[in-house]
Amino acid sequence: MKMVFLGPPGAGKGTIAVRAKEFFNIPHISTGDLFRSNIKNETQLGLKVKEILASGGLVPDSVTIEMVKNRIAEPDCKNGFILDGFPRTIPQADALAEMTDIDAVVNFVVPMEEVVKRLSGRRMCPSTGRLYHIVFNPPKVEGKDDETGEDLIQRPDDKEDAIVHRLEVYESQTKPLIDYYRKKGLIKEIDASVKPSDVFERLKAAL
Ligand code: AP5
Repeated sequence: MKMVFLGPPGAGKGTIAVRAKEFFNIPHISTGDLFRSNIKNETQLGLKVKEILASGGLVPDSVTIEMVKNRIAEPDCKNGFILDGFPRTIPQADALAEMTDIDAVVNFVVPMEEVVKRLSGRRMCPSTGRLYHIVFNPPKVEGKDDETGEDLIQRPDDKEDAIVHRLEVYESQTKPLIDYYRKKGLIKEIDASVKPSDVFERLKAAL
């Protein structure tokens, strides 16, 4: 199964992808995670994209397309994958169509006010990327990862200014992909405003 997870920032794509990759036994490819890992390791790519991510803008298509093309050519992707955060523009979607056929595009539908709450309360373990939310999914000990005990961090792009910019970028550049994939008959819409376990049940039912 080759899937694309589409939806606004904070819709819960990453949260559900963690469950879906186990269930379908396919890799979860998050372009945001790939960029963040490059930033953490201070690679050339990381240095190039650090400011772009912090501001909430998009990395140039050419860079992102090349990175995804290389990643889905790896052997673990031969039975499928979950693409989370890619494509995000029409040129990226066209490039993906040239790389491979996609079986389903899942659109996570969440009201904007809920998205803002989810993003502003998100916390992350810096080494594992494990996700929390200060209200909806708090850690056992405030501010600490449940398994490693490390201090949780807030992503730089979860600060208010960057959230506003990311939502604008989503509206202008990514939302048009819903129609793009609807015309291709690939869209599965799920109401993702409920708790993660229910969103996951809806995902399985939709697929
Ligand atoms: P990326 O990392 O992809 O960010 P995003 O799309 O903005 O998505 P998020 O990770 O913010 O949200 P999510 O939907 O995964 O929600 P999550 O599960 O974490 O991209 C970051 C940046 O990288 C971009 O801005 C851009 O600069 C660059 N980039 C990436 N891809 C690119 C591309 N293709 N082209 C160009 N640039 C690119 O959940 C959010 C919070 O809500 C968490 O705290 C979670 O615990 C909570 N939560 C989740 N589900 C629920 C629920 N059902 N109920 C209650 N709380 C919930």
